[in-house]
Amino acid sequence: MSVDLPPLLFIDDERNMRLSMKSVLEDEGYDVETAESAELGLRLLAQQKFFMVITDAQLTGMSGYGLLTVLKRDYPGVPALMITAYATPKLAVEALKAGATDYLPKPFAPEELLHAVRRCAGSYQLLAENQALRQQVTQGYRLDHIIGESPKVVELRRLIQTVAPSKASVLILGESGTGKELVAGALHCLSPCAAGPYVRINCAAIQETLLESELFGHEKGAFTGAIKQKPGRVEEADGGTIFLDEIGDMSRALQAKLLRFLEDGTFTRVGGTEELKVDVRLLAATNRDIIEAIRNNSFREDLYHRLNVVQLRLPPLRERGRDIMLLAEYFLVQYCHTLGKPIARLSKGAEAKLLVHHWPGNVRELRNVIERAVILEDTAQIQPTSLPDFELETRLRKSGGKAEFMAAGLSLDEAVAAFEREVVHSTLVHNNYSINKTAEQLKVTRHALRYRMQRLNINTEGGPGDAAEPQPAAQE
Ligand SMILES: Nc1ncnc2c1ncn2[C@@H]1O[C@H](COP(=O)(O)OP(=O)(O)OP(=O)(O)O)[C@@H](O)[C@H]1O
Ligand SMILES: [Mg+2]
Repeated sequence: MSVDLPPLLFIDDERNMRLSMKSVLEDEGYDVETAESAELGLRLLAQQKFFMVITDAQLTGMSGYGLLTVLKRDYPGVPALMITAYATPKLAVEALKAGATDYLPKPFAPEELLHAVRRCAGSYQLLAENQALRQQVTQGYRLDHIIGESPKVVELRRLIQTVAPSKASVLILGESGTGKELVAGALHCLSPCAAGPYVRINCAAIQETLLESELFGHEKGAFTGAIKQKPGRVEEADGGTIFLDEIGDMSRALQAKLLRFLEDGTFTRVGGTEELKVDVRLLAATNRDIIEAIRNNSFREDLYHRLNVVQLRLPPLRERGRDIMLLAEYFLVQYCHTLGKPIARLSKGAEAKLLVHHWPGNVRELRNVIERAVILEDTAQIQPTSLPDFELETRLRKSGGKAEFMAAGLSLDEAVAAFEREVVHSTLVHNNYSINKTAEQLKVTRHALRYRMQRLNINTEGGPGDAAEPQPAAQE
């Protein structure tokens, strides 16, 4: 067998028993350490790691039962198998009560012992794999992976370090692509529950009706399709962190349930009556204007205050100055490495082009731009031609208009379209993507607004759009 296992510890005061069991277990590929007393066993346990302990019940000095008590207290993760002299139910109960994972009455066939050992080895490996996977998932979230030296980013890293060790809820606000997920991950990794689970739910990606059951679980038969009981993700996150991404997209009804959960960690599965409780740290993020969402009643103010124990605001990339260059170089090194390209740096022209862009998609956009450039570039430096022709309207936005029209060499039609697109888009953002409100503000019908959005290729991605609004059919 391929064992990535630490050894097991076999404790028995009979020498023959120690020798014969050691040889049986070693034949199966296990590493075995033996000890003739509980005291010696504990000394070994203090020095090295074991995946399980097998102990006889009767030992000279501290008994097997005494040892189990110590194990339970000091090594709760190490399973213990107790070997008892007689198979009486009373002894079995005593062994299990004292903390044994299993017991084996004497005499036993070697196969019985091996069976129990295999089970413990299996669960050790499973746990170890899980832990390794978890580390893999979160190792990309270290603080030094948050690149940037602009004052707001320096302050952000300092705040993360300060609040991570507490259990306080954190609300992370910022435009799309500013690094909210990265920050949530770093908060978990620097928290005392870093070794615990890190569960992320994207509230916008899960259908409204299913989100509650995803979050809090459901009982069998709670709704059509609930063919068996399913624990909620909050249960999965017990002892760790749950990150509710895009929380601005959660319905008001579910917001109320979340509020109750935040108060004391209690919840009820969908279709269930039992009140359950977990110990979970909550992080939440949204790219919406949350104050505006409270104003238009799509977000509960009480929930906002409950979540907002600590608020982290991530600055948009366009306000981060030279960070653009630092990030570009960081991604350049990464992509050159993964794509196996020997590109060393950005050309002066490329740098200039990156610095003047408005970056509506923030760091994510920059990352994608660099990836594309590394793929396209066939010289030793990234040339401006390997960068996209950044959208016209973002150039317009940056300069505030006229000068850029001319610099960009736009025709009148192109300039008007770019300007129109900019106006529609920013009004949509301002109104939290509400078609009704945007149409009202721009003094056009909803129909006309939709038509223009289609023509100008504006979608409501990142916004609830029509779905979140009541849609009286007669309105148009
Ligand atoms: N300061 C930073 N340093 C390094 N990489 C960053 C930084 N900020 C963001 N990134 C990278 O940019 C990409 C987008 O970040 P992330 O997914 O965290 O954004 P977000 O704010 O959650 O966006 P959205 O609102 O669209 O979900 C990721 O690949 C992330 O690793
Ligand atoms: Mg995100």
